[in-house]
Amino acid sequence: MRIPANKNLANKHVLLGVTGSIAAYKAAELVRRLRKGGAEVRVVLSAGGAEFVTPLTFQALSGNPLHSELLDTGAEAAMGHIELARWADAVVVAPASANVIARLAQGRADDLLAAVCLATEAPVAVAPAMNQQMWAHAATQDNLRKLRERGVHQFGPAAGDQACGESGLGRMLEAADITRHTAELFDTGALTGLRVLITAGPTREAIDPLRYLSNRSSGRMGYAVAQAAVEAGARVILISGPTALATPPRVERIDVRSAQDMHEAALSRAPGADIFIATAAVADYRPAAPAQQKIKKNTDTLTLQLTRNPDILADVAALPDGPFTVGFAAETEKLLEHAGEKLARKKLDMIAANHVGEGKGFEAEENALSVFDASGVIELPQAPKTQLARQLIALIAERYHPGS
Ligand SMILES: Cc1cc2nc3c(=O)[nH]c(=O)nc-3n(C[C@H](O)[C@H](O)[C@H](O)COP(=O)(O)O)c2cc1C
Repeated sequence: MRIPANKNLANKHVLLGVTGSIAAYKAAELVRRLRKGGAEVRVVLSAGGAEFVTPLTFQALSGNPLHSELLDTGAEAAMGHIELARWADAVVVAPASANVIARLAQGRADDLLAAVCLATEAPVAVAPAMNQQMWAHAATQDNLRKLRERGVHQFGPAAGDQACGESGLGRMLEAADITRHTAELFDTGALTGLRVLITAGPTREAIDPLRYLSNRSSGRMGYAVAQAAVEAGARVILISGPTALATPPRVERIDVRSAQDMHEAALSRAPGADIFIATAAVADYRPAAPAQQKIKKNTDTLTLQLTRNPDILADVAALPDGPFTVGFAAETEKLLEHAGEKLARKKLDMIAANHVGEGKGFEAEENALSVFDASGVIELPQAPKTQLARQLIALIAERYHPGS
């Protein structure tokens, strides 16, 4: 059986909670499907779950160490409950036993899975699996209602023959259905039908045919923003400087090298865009006269004359009827002051400012953003860039009012 890659699951971090139900064996197939769909999977096995399936199965299938202990110094040092909670783009508990559903409804934090569910900002879903009497019990139904009211997603259950010999509601959904529902968690629809233009990565400013001036931007933030915009339903064009990253699914990518190339690509497409998000680290200056041939080392010193590059962000923001414009400001000092000044000077609709350094910003997996607009500042605390990108897209969607 061929399992197709899933556009929404690509590169997603799915934390799978496997709990004490006879359906735990089906979670092995679920790990396989999620991974084939493109997700990275980590498994948390509850105490009950470990009575039905072995840690080794899930470690081998997920390709990651299995997580089960909360109050264990070794486990906490390797990847603790808070790190797991932050790592997850979605937490899916499948199978979810009646006991775990009750514990989540109570907000318990006395085992690893319950603690992660409390600590995560990612969407949480449960796929109930239990005997039909346990399912129908008012306690179970009350607990699930509470969870749904708090925004927990519920996948299933299905009706049919049960392992206990009874028949009725309470069977866990099939792995293929749970995989599909998990993928749907990433579709927000907040930008449905909108055209979003994004710049990402560094630019390269030629010194001679072999050398260039550039910067340490990896492009990760911009690519994550492009993916989040697609998940929100937008049609996305990504104008990218040179990066080592794969194009996110359903994103149209235009490759450029220099700031001038990026300026031309952005200005030619901006009039057709509803939203412009400039995450690229564009060189402010370029060599004024790049050498036509390789520069030889026949002098002790070499002076490069630099000239200002065009300002892509300011030029897009100045377009009559231009798109809603969002800038990025990477700063090493006076973050708030510099970002506020850039918002006003370039007449942007919004600016996302980030501190560079200390494991954040350029070349890093994580970032933290201060997002400014006319109404003030919103802090998005340190998190993986994929999660921050989704939060930023949600903010942009909230503030975007066509025609106003
Ligand atoms: C053979 C067997 C099958 C079980 N199947 C289920 C089940 O499908 N769903 C359920 O909610 N509990 C089931 N239970 C009960 C749970 O395993 C028990 O409540 C356990 O404490 C749950 O552990 P957990 O909190 O780690 O999920 C079963 C118990 C046994 C002995």
